[in-house]
Formats: sequence, structure tokens, C-alpha cells
Amino acid sequence: MSTAVPTSPKAGKGAGAEVGIALLGYGTVGQAVYRLLTENTEDFTHRIGGPVAVRGVAVSDASKPREGVDPSLLTEDAHALIARDDVDVVVEVIGGIDYPRELVLAALNNGKSVVTANKALVAAHSAELAEAADAAGVDLYFEAAVAAAIPVVGPLRRSLAGDKVKSVMGIVNGTTNFILDAMDSTGASYDDMLAEATRLGYAEADPTADVEGHDAASKAAILASLAFHTRVSYDDVYCEGISSITAEDIEAARTAGYVIKLLAVCERFTDDAGVEKVSARVHPTLVPRDHPLASVSKSFNAVFVEAEAAGRLMFYGNGAGGNPTASAVLGDLVGAARNKVHGGRAPGESTYANLPIAEFGDVRTRYHVDLHVEDRVGVLSEIASKFALNQISLSAVRQEEFNEGARLVVVTHEASENDLAATVDAVKQLPAVKSVNSVIRLEGE
Ligand code: NDP
Ligand code: HSE
Repeated sequence: MSTAVPTSPKAGKGAGAEVGIALLGYGTVGQAVYRLLTENTEDFTHRIGGPVAVRGVAVSDASKPREGVDPSLLTEDAHALIARDDVDVVVEVIGGIDYPRELVLAALNNGKSVVTANKALVAAHSAELAEAADAAGVDLYFEAAVAAAIPVVGPLRRSLAGDKVKSVMGIVNGTTNFILDAMDSTGASYDDMLAEATRLGYAEADPTADVEGHDAASKAAILASLAFHTRVSYDDVYCEGISSITAEDIEAARTAGYVIKLLAVCERFTDDAGVEKVSARVHPTLVPRDHPLASVSKSFNAVFVEAEAAGRLMFYGNGAGGNPTASAVLGDLVGAARNKVHGGRAPGESTYANLPIAEFGDVRTRYHVDLHVEDRVGVLSEIASKFALNQISLSAVRQEEFNEGARLVVVTHEASENDLAATVDAVKQLPAVKSVNSVIRLEGE
């Protein structure tokens, strides 16, 4: 098991020594990193304790015309670039999993520190990467991997290292927040807003990762691992995206006083048998309109952390885009380069608590169940009895005329996923129930 204690921190190169950088990727993030780094070299020299020099920039097509970069730096041979003796820190902003994994492992095994913005890679291979960094005594930084510009990895790794984090919850995907916010505030269409988020550089190379929740699930895995000192990987996170959310769902939420957000929720809890467990989940969620998360608009992100001694903390800011992401990458780059100059290491992976991951069926939350039913005497009590049978208590029921019948909305108190699923199955069997329009989880009340 990895610990937070560095095994063999390398001695520094000495004050004033030059730090060589290999930049892997020159897309939305890579271009912003390169520009900000080369425009502010003097500041970086002071902050690091020695000058930085970009040794090369790896891209998939070096013949493509590009602005703002010295063409002699471009290469398609990323392996050769990171193997150079004069490269100390490798910045990976390519994206994907398999190829960057190869490159990052090669860099770490070669004694180079790595800064990456790649949440998919970190969430899928954290153990392997942390072990390689520990074995080589080098740094692995990934602040930009979660919520772009918002410092949340550093605070969990360092500032809250003396506290016990109980939960981390928030909006961690800019693309889906951009889409849902526009659908709610202007009635814009899902497809138009996805195209716009892609044009603005928020979306992943394959935006399915955003809209199906995979990107947020990777971030949830990283947050849960840091918060609970337990290895939580992408496969441990329950994940539902926003592709099934319709304009009707958004309108119904508005009428009921809610807004729909894609939330990541990471919790530590004690089960009925007294066993402490952790869970991480991503799904569309109803949030009351007066909750601070409801006003997080456009591509902004917000993360709430609740810790035993600190109480509640809120982190808010730009969650996607070239410059905001470059800000986090460059912060990490200064840290990694400083350690190369002066010696020492950043905190490594901490997984000592090794808490069990809860079964998703045992996770508890509240639900908003929207039904199309026959409008006749006794329907409400038939439906309520199915909830009661599974020990689910109701907090509100609303009915209105709808499509030659009635729309019945049931809001529950906290219940387990297993109990809710059993109830919905039973409700569907009732002759009076024409359809289950939607089941959306509810947080923040
Ligand atoms: P882009 O798709 O805009 O850029 C990817 C870059 O990688 C391009 O320059 C591309 O080269 C290069 N590349 C692709 N394949 C290879 C290869 N085989 N060898 C060498 N270079 C290659 O991605 P982004 O900049 O948007 O994202 C990069 C990373 O940052 C991802 O992991 C993403 O998840 C993460 N991230 C992105 C954020 C954002 O808002 N965009 C925010 C936070 C994190 P070429 O130019 O020739 O096509
Ligand atoms: N595609 C990601 C998002 C980029 O939209 O949040 C930031 O990680």
C-alpha cells in the first residue's frame, strides 16, 4: 500500500539550475499552458528558484500549422522527448488512457516528475502511477484533473490532511452544467448547447465522456480517494449522465422549485452493522432553487466539502477551458520544478484507511418520482401503499391533470437505492399507473 511519506526524495539540482519541460499535447489546454509559461518566464524563474525551458512539444501531427509555438519544438515522438536527459518535468495534456499511461509511466520510471490534467488516467490507474512515482522518488501532480482552475486536490491533500472529511459533493463537469443551465435559463436545446460547449473547448475529445457522466465519475473517484484516504477507482463510482434528461424534466423541476444539476456525491457513512464505508456516485440531481449549487451557472463548477473539525467548505470557480485549466497545470508545474531545484517531494498517495466501498443499493438519498396515472378514486392510496411496504416515508405528493389522466409527483424522505428500486418496480405493475415519467434523486434540502 502506498503511503503519504516519500520513500526517497531526490536531492535538488541546486538553486539557479534550469528545469527542462516536456509538454505532451498542444490542444485547448496545451496551448494555454505554453503561452502562459513562455509569456511569464521571469515570474516562473523567481517562483521556482531557477529558469524553466520547454524542450519540446509532442503532438499527433507535427506538420499541422500552429500559432504561438516555435515549430522546431514540435515532435510526434513523445517517448523520445520524455527520455531526454535535459527533461526534468513532463506535462501530460493529451487525454485518453492507454497512450498517456504509457508515457506517464515511462516518464516516472525515468525519474521525471509528472503534471497531468488527465482525470480518466488518474482515476483508472492511480495505484500503478503512485507506485511508479514513489519508486522513483518523483512527483505526480494532478490538480487540473478535477474542476480545472479550482484548487481542490491540493486542499484535500494538504490543508485538510489533519481533519476527517465526511463528504464531498458538487458540480465537477463544466460541459453538462453549461448544457443544463442553458436548457433551464433560456430553453436552449440540448444538442445546440453540446455543440457550443465543444466549440468553447469545454468538452472532452469524445463528449460522450461528459454527457454520460464518465468524466465526472473519474473526478468523483479522485475526490473520494483523497478525501477518505482510500483507493476509489473509476469502476467503483455509480454513474448516470444527462443524456436522458428532457426539456419536460427541466420544466417539471422548475415548476416544483428545483433545478437539475449533474452532481458528484462522495460520502463516508456507517452502515446498519456499524461498518464505516465510502461511496461515490454521479447522477442528475434535483437541487432546490435557493441552494448555492442551483446558482452555479455556465461552465462553472462548485465543490462542497464537509469535514469534522473544519465544518462546511465551498470551492467555486472555472471548471473547464484552456486558461483556467492551464492555471492549475502551471501551479503544479511550479511545485514540481521547485522540488527538482531544491529537492523534496510533494505529498504522495495516501490510502492507509482502506475503507470498504459500499454497495450502491445500500446508498441512501431522497427521490422525486414523476408518474402518469389514472385520475380516479383510490389511486393515490394504492401507490402510497407500495412506498410504505418498502418502508419509504413520503415528504410531499402533488397531483395535476395531465394527458387524459393525472400527473402524480411523489417526493420521498431518505431511502436506500434498493428499497426505491423495489418500490418503483411494484408501482409500475399497478393497473392505475400508465408510466413512470422519471425518477430523479434529490439533494440539498
Ligand atoms: P485536445 O483534444 O484539445 O488536445 C489534445 C492534444 O494532444 C492535441 O495537441 C493533440 O495533437 C495531442 N495528441 C493527441 N494524440 C497524441 C499522440 N498520440 N501523441 C502526441 N500528441 C497527441 O484536448 P484538451 O487540451 O482539451 O485536453 C487535454 C487533457 O486535459 C485531457 O486529459 C482533458 O481531460 C484534460 N482537461 C481538459 C480540460 C478542458 O477544459 N479542455 C479541463 C481539465 C482537464 P494534435 O494537435 O496534433 O491534434
Ligand atoms: N470536459 C471537462 C468538463 C473538462 O466539461 O468539465 C474539465 O475537466
